[in-house]
Amino acid sequence: MSASELGVPKVPTGIAGLDEMLQGGFPAGHVVLVTGLPGTGKTCLSLQFLLAGAQRGEKGVFLSLEEDVAALTQTARQFGWPVDDALKRELLKIIRLDPKETKQNIQRIQGELGKELKALGAKRIVVDSVSLLNMLSDDEAGRRATLFSLAAACRSAGATTVLTAEADPTHPGISRDGLSEYVSDGVVVLTYTTAADGHRVGLSIRVLKMRRTPHLRSVQPYVIGLSGLRVDAKAIDLGGV
Ligand SMILES: Nc1ncnc2c1ncn2[C@@H]1O[C@H](COP(=O)(O)OP(=O)(O)OP(=O)(O)O)[C@@H](O)[C@H]1O
Ligand SMILES: [Mg+2]
Repeated sequence: MSASELGVPKVPTGIAGLDEMLQGGFPAGHVVLVTGLPGTGKTCLSLQFLLAGAQRGEKGVFLSLEEDVAALTQTARQFGWPVDDALKRELLKIIRLDPKETKQNIQRIQGELGKELKALGAKRIVVDSVSLLNMLSDDEAGRRATLFSLAAACRSAGATTVLTAEADPTHPGISRDGLSEYVSDGVVVLTYTTAADGHRVGLSIRVLKMRRTPHLRSVQPYVIGLSGLRVDAKAIDLGGV
């Protein structure tokens, strides 16, 4: 029996090939962690996910602790995604959380964020990245509290959420903080694969966990091509578009 027959509604990710790995997309309402080393495409995937929603008339909110609005908009334009239209039609809102404003950000997350996101009518939310967010707290208890509040705020808004996190360089399958996995319903890992010749480097994606749905467990190659991320078995030649 398929997941859709079991009645788990799915949210198409907009990433070609990923929906097939997930039998239709992310389960609606899930908080999904996307971990990866720098440059594996976490930010691109996040934007692609929100713009896929915008094309379906679903409102998306991008909470950015890393890149500013101009840089994110520019990235989306480069891939040819209709970001200006989505911003104009208020189907996409990019909110920059300045990591320097530590106290205000934590207060907002632990306070009104859920209500704010609900008021915006967000169906899709991205937080890029929780790694920077975690740096705002100086102890593990604080980091846990903030992460749990963030996940709760996204869930209470009724949205499907992507949290991005830096992978641990020595264990690239897990996040640097080792905490984000526990607040998430699903984990997608982006990694580099090096060919036997030691020169050619490709990218691969793996669904480590996705509650309430069957999914493919095998590692699949993907590319960041001219129109964004694409899971593609033929990309096994490492690095080709
Ligand atoms: N227009 C484009 N065409 C092809 N590839 C691109 C394009 N833009 C970005 N890339 C690829 O995507 C990579 C950056 O992706 P992205 O910024 O999403 O990574 P990230 O995982 O968010 O990195 P970080 O951890 O540094 O934030 C670039 O290094 C490049 O390889
Ligand atoms: Mg990024």
